[in-house]
Amino acid sequence: MDKNSRDYEVCVCRHITRGQIEDFLKETGLTDLKEICQKLNVGNVCGACRGMILDMIEEMK
Ligand code: FES
Repeated sequence: MDKNSRDYEVCVCRHITRGQIEDFLKETGLTDLKEICQKLNVGNVCGACRGMILDMIEEMK
């Protein structure tokens, strides 16, 4: 699947899609990766998705 699709599963461990992360970032305005991972319960298993989440945070700024 296209990585830019809203249905793309960014975090395979927590089954969190790009769309879910985008909406969360928009709603909360959070920019701190650690806080986002804690509150959305994402990126806290293997950590492989954190780079992509960071990129998304940068894109939203
Ligand atoms: S893919 Fe997100 S924690 Fe493993």
